[in-house]
Amino acid sequence: MSAQAISAVDTPFKSNGASHPEGLILDRCTQEQAFDLFYTWAVQEQWNPSVKGQDIRDLYHKADPEGFFYGRIADKQAPTKTEIVSIVSLIRYGKDQAWLGFYIVLPRHRGKGYGMATFQKALEHAGHDRQSIGLDGVLAQVENYKKSGFTNVAWRNERRHGSAKDLVENLERDLAEKVARGGVPGLVHLSDDLVDWDQVQALEQRYAGLKRPEFIKEWAQFHTFNPELHRFGVAVLSTDGTVDEKSGKPKILGFGCVRPAETSYRVGPLYASTPEVAKLLLVKLGVEVVQAERQSPYHVPLQFDVDVPTSNEEAVKLFDGLDWKDTFPSLRMWRGKIPEHDVNGIFAVATLEVG
Ligand SMILES: CC(C)(COP(=O)(O)OP(=O)(O)OC[C@H]1O[C@@H](n2cnc3c(N)ncnc32)[C@H](O)[C@@H]1OP(=O)(O)O)[C@@H](O)C(=O)NCCC(=O)NCCS
Repeated sequence: MSAQAISAVDTPFKSNGASHPEGLILDRCTQEQAFDLFYTWAVQEQWNPSVKGQDIRDLYHKADPEGFFYGRIADKQAPTKTEIVSIVSLIRYGKDQAWLGFYIVLPRHRGKGYGMATFQKALEHAGHDRQSIGLDGVLAQVENYKKSGFTNVAWRNERRHGSAKDLVENLERDLAEKVARGGVPGLVHLSDDLVDWDQVQALEQRYAGLKRPEFIKEWAQFHTFNPELHRFGVAVLSTDGTVDEKSGKPKILGFGCVRPAETSYRVGPLYASTPEVAKLLLVKLGVEVVQAERQSPYHVPLQFDVDVPTSNEEAVKLFDGLDWKDTFPSLRMWRGKIPEHDVNGIFAVATLEVG
């Protein structure tokens, strides 16, 4: 591994009264290292990352190439070598915001202070005057994150899990057939010429409060230009003649993306102005995935996982109505200000890993 060693050991480790664990060296990851480590470790934690870690290599690392860290210690069996024990990412979005994710320590090395020191290094990367640093924390770590200053909870996410096949062939069969026939006006792929990218970017900021216009555009394009990889991005455009003043293109009422992951397809984001728009987007994503799997099998189970903020009652109602159960709760927490947002437009967050 050829990483740039950075002097993490020069920062005293003070949290919970402990000191920086002896022998821990913190390095910054290259793109390939981030891809190898972050993907493999996320799989081991059963976080169900995107298949083959394509998003880590193609998007996440690119979003802040300085923001991926790993910790290593001397290998007791072979003292000239080191063993990697911890990882974390902190992606800076603009000058105000950042997102912390992939906080993992190798199971056999937990409880030795490696995690906390690695976490601190990530926070340093955010700088001192950043307005808001966010993370989606597993419930077991919530009290720790509060101690580290993540005291502002925006909402609770639930990972709702259900069958895409059942959605389109049974639960919403009539709507799915109409969608498949192209019989729903305004329902388009994000690659459609009528889609105004400025509106796509503005919608994420309005609903989720995230100020990362370049990232969300790349994220949406990562989905929409790759049907052969079973990634899809779709939008609902207004059909009553309402247009955006600046672009003159139709108003976007919502958009959604889906990608194959290790054990299911992950949906995110699903931003929509009404529950009806959200349902339409979800069904369209289901139709696309089921058709794609039929045409060229990718062998990812035809199941959907959707990270739903439970503060949006309509979103909860939608997924309760489908009987999709919560399989993985988390809290969206902020250190500093909770960005202004409108949770009622979020039927699924974009990701837990990078916000
Ligand atoms: C969470 C995890 C990374 C912590 O790593 P670790 O090396 O075991 O933690 P440490 O040994 O550094 O913890 C040292 C102390 O700091 C606390 N601590 C750990 N991370 C902390 C944080 N981010 N903020 C505040 N305190 C923290 C620990 O509870 C512990 O406190 P104690 O001494 O009072 O018991 C590790 O348990 C892990 O990999 N878990 C599975 C993956 C996971 O759930 N990650 C979090 C996803 S949101």
